[in-house]
Amino acid sequence: MKAIGIVGSPRKGGNCEFLTNHALKSIAEEGIETELITLAGLDIGHCTGCYACQKDDHRCVVDDDAWPIYEKMKAADGIILSTPVYFGSATSLMKAFMDRTGMVARYSGDIFKGKVGGPIVVARRGGVNFTYAEMNFWFQILGFFMTGANYWNIAFGRNKGEVAQDKEGVETVWNFGKNMAQLMKAVRK
Ligand SMILES: Cc1cc2nc3c(=O)[nH]c(=O)nc-3n(C[C@H](O)[C@H](O)[C@H](O)COP(=O)(O)O)c2cc1C
Repeated sequence: MKAIGIVGSPRKGGNCEFLTNHALKSIAEEGIETELITLAGLDIGHCTGCYACQKDDHRCVVDDDAWPIYEKMKAADGIILSTPVYFGSATSLMKAFMDRTGMVARYSGDIFKGKVGGPIVVARRGGVNFTYAEMNFWFQILGFFMTGANYWNIAFGRNKGEVAQDKEGVETVWNFGKNMAQLMKAVRK
C-alpha cells in the first residue's frame, strides 16, 4: 500500500510541504509506504479543453510533467493534495494539476474511485474555507473515500516554516494521516 502527498505550492520547502510531510510521516508510522511530490518548479500546463482524454488511449495531449505524476496517482492507494490559499483560492498550479489529472481519471473509467484522499490547506489568514471546499469538490466528484480529522485540515502561517507554530493545525494533519491510514487498510480488506 502506498500514499502520496502532492504539494501545490510554487514555493519549495514551504508550509504546505511541511504539513504534507507531517501527514505522510503519520501514515508511514502505520506501515504504509509514502512519497512526497512537490509541483514547485515543474512544467504543469493547464487543461486545454480538447477532450482528447475521452478518446481510446485516454492520454493527455499536453506533454509535460503532469503525466508521470498522474501515473503515480494511479498506482497509489491514498492521495493527499495540499495547497496554500492564493487570493482566496487554491494556487493556479494546483488547480491546473487537478483539472488535468481529474479529467483524464474520469475518462479513464473513474480510476481514482475507491482510493482514499483529502486536502490540506494553508493560509496566512483568510480563504481557507472556500479553498478547502474547492479541493473537496475534486475528491468527491472523482469517487475518493474521504476521512476527516479532529478538525478541518487547515493551518495558518505565512513565512516558510511558520506553520509549525500552529500547534492545532499540525496536530490536525497528524490525525488526518492516522485516519487516512486506517481507512486505506479498511478499504484494502
Ligand atoms: C500570491 C499570493 C496570494 C496569497 N493569498 C492569500 C490569501 O488570499 N489569504 C491568505 O490568508 N494568505 C494568502 N497568501 C499567503 C500564503 O497562503 C501563505 O504564505 C502560505 O503559508 C504559503 O504556503 P507555502 O509556504 O506552502 O507556499 C498568499 C500568498 C501569495 C504569494
